[in-house]
Amino acid sequence: MSAEKVALGRHLFYDARLSRDGTLACVSCHLPQHGFADRRPLAVGVDGERAHRNAMGLANVGYLPVLTWSNPNLTSLEFQALIPIFGTHPEEMGMAGREETLFATLSADADYQRLFRAAFPERGGEISLFTLTRALAAFQRTLISATSPYDRYKYGGDEMALSEQAKRGEALFFDHRLECYHCHSGFNFTNTWQSSRMPFPEVGFHNNGLYNIGAEGAYPRSAPGLIEHTGKAEDMGRFRTPSLRNVELTAPYMHDGSIATLEEVVRHYEAGGRRVHAGPNAGIGADSPFKDFLIQGFRLADEERADLIAFLRSLTDQSFIENRAFSDPWPVGHPATQKRRMSSE
Ligand code: HEC
Ligand code: HEC
Repeated sequence: MSAEKVALGRHLFYDARLSRDGTLACVSCHLPQHGFADRRPLAVGVDGERAHRNAMGLANVGYLPVLTWSNPNLTSLEFQALIPIFGTHPEEMGMAGREETLFATLSADADYQRLFRAAFPERGGEISLFTLTRALAAFQRTLISATSPYDRYKYGGDEMALSEQAKRGEALFFDHRLECYHCHSGFNFTNTWQSSRMPFPEVGFHNNGLYNIGAEGAYPRSAPGLIEHTGKAEDMGRFRTPSLRNVELTAPYMHDGSIATLEEVVRHYEAGGRRVHAGPNAGIGADSPFKDFLIQGFRLADEERADLIAFLRSLTDQSFIENRAFSDPWPVGHPATQKRRMSSE
């Protein structure tokens, strides 16, 4: 990691020429004001192709040993970056088979000649997949969110940073009755994390009872979870526990964006699973045979529900989303951003 690699990665993250028709940059689906997620239930790639999954927030993504909702094999940011650019299932930025065009465009840009030289002097400023993915990863590792009101209260000793209501919500979150903290654990509110002091990373995939199609515990075929990668029946509906940092800003929720608000998320857990009344996905999630045993349901008074939501909102880190170091580095009207679209609100 170096400041120059990060600066290059930031330019690439905002550059829509990384997509086939020049309309999508990474930032198109990972917007700072939404905690680097977007507002669509399902992401939409070039030519309007809809993905089967919700774009994820990127706060503290550098601490995750496994990336995306359900692929246990994606273990580095360098490798993950290839998926949106070159992936075809679904097609996001649509550059499969267009590597040469991409590198010709970047090489013809005087800004990039300078930026790549500064970032990779040891490789003579080489403009390649190797350097491009390393720079994107370096930028993403700087996306650290650690100054929310909850952080200031919990780690900064500032009693006043958190409202009484959010403090009551914190107690509920960490209570055995609700069990939230078992899966949404640690500094990042996910049991998927790594640190240099750990002998091996911790990875948590769970089924939280969103679907129970045909009373057999099935999830929609388009996004069945970990089973898609392991082929094991018990992995049906298991997804990586998402971080809850900036969760207020990353709606809609769950791997398929199928829950619109935090209140509905809490009601989902209260019921111990979701009941889908009609249609192809009908079923009673609470009765799913694959549901995690920690999702048992519980009762909350209206004030308690509001307390819990106030706690979740206290994870919103305003200085993170407004951090100028993460903002668009390109001058207005630059070819990198001329046709760039942002995922619609
Ligand atoms: C068309 C929208 C779209 C674009 C463009 C896009 N992403 Fe994503 N991103 C997603 C979706 C959807 C997911 C979840 C994918 C999944 O689970 O299969 C995701 C997941 C990720 C993750 C995993 C986060 C986590 O918590 O595990 C990272 C990192 C990421 N994207 C980085 C990037 C980078 C870097 C780019 C640009 C090269 C990019 N994305 C472009 C939609 C997009
Ligand atoms: C058994 C582990 C487990 C427990 C217990 C649990 N969660 Fe989750 N949570 C998950 C998983 C896994 C997902 C993603 C599921 C999916 O997308 O299919 C999730 C998703 C969420 C989301 C949506 C985040 C996003 O970015 O889409 C929120 C909010 C959330 N949980 C809050 C809570 C709260 C509050 C509690 C306690 C009442 C709780 N969770 C208990 C595992 C758990």
